[in-house]
Amino acid sequence: MQKKVFITQSILSDGIELLQTAGFEVVIEEQNRPLSYEELKEKSQKFDALITMLGDRIDEGFLRYNSHLKVISNYAVGFNNIDVQTASALNIEIGNTPDVLTEATAEIALGLMIAASRNFHSAASSAVNGQWKHWHPTEHLGHALGKKTLGIVGLGRIGLQLATLCRHAFNMKIIYFNRSLKNNSINATKVELPELLATSDFISLHVPLNRSTHHIIGKAEFASMKRNAVLVNTSRGEIINQTELINALKENLIFAAGLDVTDPEPLPIDNELFQLKNAYVLPHIGSATFEARRAMSILAAKNIIAGLEGKELVSWVNRR
Ligand code: GLV
Ligand code: GLV
Repeated sequence: MQKKVFITQSILSDGIELLQTAGFEVVIEEQNRPLSYEELKEKSQKFDALITMLGDRIDEGFLRYNSHLKVISNYAVGFNNIDVQTASALNIEIGNTPDVLTEATAEIALGLMIAASRNFHSAASSAVNGQWKHWHPTEHLGHALGKKTLGIVGLGRIGLQLATLCRHAFNMKIIYFNRSLKNNSINATKVELPELLATSDFISLHVPLNRSTHHIIGKAEFASMKRNAVLVNTSRGEIINQTELINALKENLIFAAGLDVTDPEPLPIDNELFQLKNAYVLPHIGSATFEARRAMSILAAKNIIAGLEGKELVSWVNRR
């Protein structure tokens, strides 16, 4: 019987065509919104495999109810939305999309470093709001990147790509916490987290979200940072205690924050972060380049094809 694949939101067509060419029936959610938890849980009954988005909550209840599923291919590198342990126990294979979005996400992190340190938020809104009366010698002053210290929390693929960009483009000094670099062509120095937080001018977060990384940046961590520090997060909002971040920004414990991820997402428009002049918030667009999203579409599809054909997933989170 023809195997059926459900894609929970419409993705670029490259991967869809691969799935169809491989002989699968592909159904793409047509509503221009994510399905609710209950809707997706029910709908998944009729399929053999899913391509899920990072906002789809695939928890134990979902998986036990849909234990017939063979493959869940997450259209993201992060998979904190999926209970991988339960999936493994039920022999459901989980795929993700690393590597193909590394450059796109590192570029967004670099963009946020500049946007936050150079006051894009307050400067652009002053122009739009009619406060741009004349050029001013001391307004909108920010901090340069050149020769400063960049602290990378979680030196995985994306962290290393950002470090490499910053090393070569801005001659920044790179320090990092956890993992060990094999080929250290960027002269990076491994330090403990407290030292990284206390000595970095720019701090960028690249750890995956799990129990041990939840709220690793909180009140004590903000207190230990330099007053000129710029904090960037392109990982997951829950890595930061956001209430403490708002306090730190209000009290100028740090200079600014550039966030591509928040807690929750979407961030309600009345959230204080949107009012703060020293916060720059993007709606989780780290991987949103044509190039990355096309490659993610292909990789997510290849994971499904491999799984349904009984082969090894190209990127297999719960490899046996
Ligand atoms: C995006 O946040 C991803 O995990 O791919
Ligand atoms: C994510 O893929 C990372 O390794 O940074």
